[in-house]
Amino acid sequence: MLAIEKQYVQWHENETLHHARWLSQSNQVPPTRIILVDDKMTADEAYRLACEGTSMLWHGDFHNARQLLQALGRRIDRTNERSEQRKLKKAANKSAANKSVTPKEIPNLFHQQRQMQAQRSRILSRLLLELDAGYISQLRRAPDVSAACTAAFGKLDKAIDETCVLSFRDLQGALGAEGWREKGVPITGLGLSVFPHYGVFAPTRHEYVQLLLDVPLPDTCDVAFDIGTGTGLLAIILAQRGVKQVIATDLNPRALACSNDNFTRLDLSTVQLQQADLFPTDVPLANLIVCNPPWLPAKPSSPLEYAVYDANSTMLRGFLQGAKQHLAKQGEVWLILSDLAEHLQLRSRDELLGWFVDSGLKVKYRLDTRPKHGRSQDNTDPLFAARSAEITSLWCLVPFDS
Ligand SMILES: C[S@@+](CC[C@H](N)C(=O)[O-])C[C@H]1O[C@@H](n2cnc3c(N)ncnc32)[C@H](O)[C@@H]1O
Repeated sequence: MLAIEKQYVQWHENETLHHARWLSQSNQVPPTRIILVDDKMTADEAYRLACEGTSMLWHGDFHNARQLLQALGRRIDRTNERSEQRKLKKAANKSAANKSVTPKEIPNLFHQQRQMQAQRSRILSRLLLELDAGYISQLRRAPDVSAACTAAFGKLDKAIDETCVLSFRDLQGALGAEGWREKGVPITGLGLSVFPHYGVFAPTRHEYVQLLLDVPLPDTCDVAFDIGTGTGLLAIILAQRGVKQVIATDLNPRALACSNDNFTRLDLSTVQLQQADLFPTDVPLANLIVCNPPWLPAKPSSPLEYAVYDANSTMLRGFLQGAKQHLAKQGEVWLILSDLAEHLQLRSRDELLGWFVDSGLKVKYRLDTRPKHGRSQDNTDPLFAARSAEITSLWCLVPFDS
């Protein structure tokens, strides 16, 4: 289940060289400069060291480490606020006022914001902790993190007593994911919850769920595909709407385990799962093919971002190009896509329409909805102008000759 290569870190402690397995879910390279720190470390000093590239292996109280991480976050935010943020906001204000913003400025804002997020993540990831075999922390007041870590990172080899070192930030990600997996995400309009696993796209934006509930099914809808199923949410909607056979695919093994878990919880015997790059094999043609691809054409910077960013729109274009040959007569393709990429000028509407045509598909109709999530209302976000204009659409596409 571990999606990472085995890598190791080493450090000196009491004049002895220690080493441990390095775990990083964001693919950060193993740190080479590690010092030991404890509760005496001040936030200012930790911030200075982290910015210089020194990693700090925590030996103090578990909760104090969490507070130190928050203090580091505040320092990063303040610094960003003073430097990059000011530049970004200036450009964003210009954009909101529709002044002389060149077409290049908005994508630049987006890329700068991503760079700042990556830099934030690098700095915060310099606070480390060591876990014994079985993911046991020996830190004072440490909670039991073993279940969350096993679910997120897989089993470590207890037989060879493998200890590991990871960032507090990754540990917090695992603990947060465990919370979602236990409590689930209630899906408005559907009357049920789905249970995301670590590293699987969590459907926290529900605007498109209502579209999928409202849109009429094709006249014949015995077989449907859900391409890139994630938690299985869209397959669940189709099954609940009475489609007799739903075949869901995903490339990500975590998504397959997660959707399988959700289908089992709901006792959905009409849904089958396949690990596939896009379309399933050895199955009948589909009356309906649904896909909610990652919405932004940008390079994912870690495995956890593959559900959000689609470099060069590879999945989107691959899906469109392959859809027609998997469709039964009178079949329909439902593509769920937000136009945020268009507002960020990462993709144009003409380009998208051109890909439909190149794939032998035409638009039968389109349903639109406006997102209501927090970021679309946050006018302090440098990309507010783009985010507040976003529309999420369900494109119903059919072959030219239908
Ligand atoms: C934006 S998420 C959508 C998840 C889910 N359908 C939903 O609406 O909540 C995109 C999903 O596509 C999957 N994916 C990306 N590329 C894929 C490919 N080439 N083949 C199959 N699945 C893929 C990702 O792993 C992810 O689960």
